[in-house]
Amino acid sequence: MRQRFGVTNDDMTAVLECAALAPSVHNTQPWRFDVAGDTIEVRAERDRQLSYLDPTGRQLHVSCGAAIEFAFLAARSIGRECTVRLLPDGGDPDLLARIQLGRARVATPTERLLAEAIPLRYTDRGPYTDRAVPADLVDDVRARAADLDVWIRTVDDADDRRALVTVLSVAEQSEAADARYGEELARWTGTDGDVGVPADAVAGRWPSDRVSHVPLRDFTGHASQPSVEGRGDASPPSVERDFLLMLGTPDDDPLAWLSAGRALGWALLCAASVGVSAQPLGPATDLPHARATLRHDLGLVGYPQFVVRMGYGTDRPRTRRRHVVPA
Ligand SMILES: Cc1cc2nc3c(=O)[nH]c(=O)nc-3n(C[C@H](O)[C@H](O)[C@H](O)COP(=O)(O)O)c2cc1C
Repeated sequence: MRQRFGVTNDDMTAVLECAALAPSVHNTQPWRFDVAGDTIEVRAERDRQLSYLDPTGRQLHVSCGAAIEFAFLAARSIGRECTVRLLPDGGDPDLLARIQLGRARVATPTERLLAEAIPLRYTDRGPYTDRAVPADLVDDVRARAADLDVWIRTVDDADDRRALVTVLSVAEQSEAADARYGEELARWTGTDGDVGVPADAVAGRWPSDRVSHVPLRDFTGHASQPSVEGRGDASPPSVERDFLLMLGTPDDDPLAWLSAGRALGWALLCAASVGVSAQPLGPATDLPHARATLRHDLGLVGYPQFVVRMGYGTDRPRTRRRHVVPA
């Protein structure tokens, strides 16, 4: 198929390579990119959808939404107009997006900055310092999220944080109690191939004298994350209170999930562009009952899709990616 407006194969390669760096649940990378001329079709790869953690495909869509946003920013940063149509074919639910590169148009400074942050962003599961994240980060995320029909909420009120901690603890306990969760986690963790979360990205990242106020996903699958409670130490550890951001949508369907993923992609790049680390708090929204409790206890209008902790981290683990550029 023809490439118009002088779009080149190098342009398409640059965009695909950036899209592939998006975050995805358990690094499943549940996407496929089919290139035809100046258009990329993003398809769901159902054989990489998590059957226990993600039976509806919500997290698959969020992951692919982030990849779509990365592709969009990459296309803009190389000076191309870029049109994204989500779910362009009602008869084909696995066709998640059609991304078309167009005429030359100079990127905005923000688009350029965020695209430059794509190779810098990563999930940081270690401790963060006490330094506050910049206040205007939230404004930058809110504006883009609103364009995508996604709302954001900072979880800073003490009651809201308590409710979130309870939701995370209960979710992690019920996940750990189900053998299917452990089996799935084991399949996707400690891998040394080009998918999954490698052992050094999850193990031993916390010193013994520091704990997080919010339970973080325990990648051993035993809900044994160090926590504030239950430590018999004489000197209690210092408790980290990270900045917490929630993203949600008015609806709860594939279009909303993809949009949430796009807003998440933007939010993580805003953070990375100013040196702020992030880690998703997946168990807050993994299970239907966790999401329902969050809606009720935090008085949310709409559906929580994602919660993420942010702060200044220390170290960079490496995760790998599948090759996505056609030969
Ligand atoms: C929908 C979704 C849920 C995720 N849940 C968690 C989580 O609960 N805990 C965690 O540490 N990382 C979580 N992640 C981050 C992925 O594990 C991470 O993006 C992937 O391993 C690739 O690594 P990278 O982000 O460092 O590139 C999640 C990511 C997505 C998109």
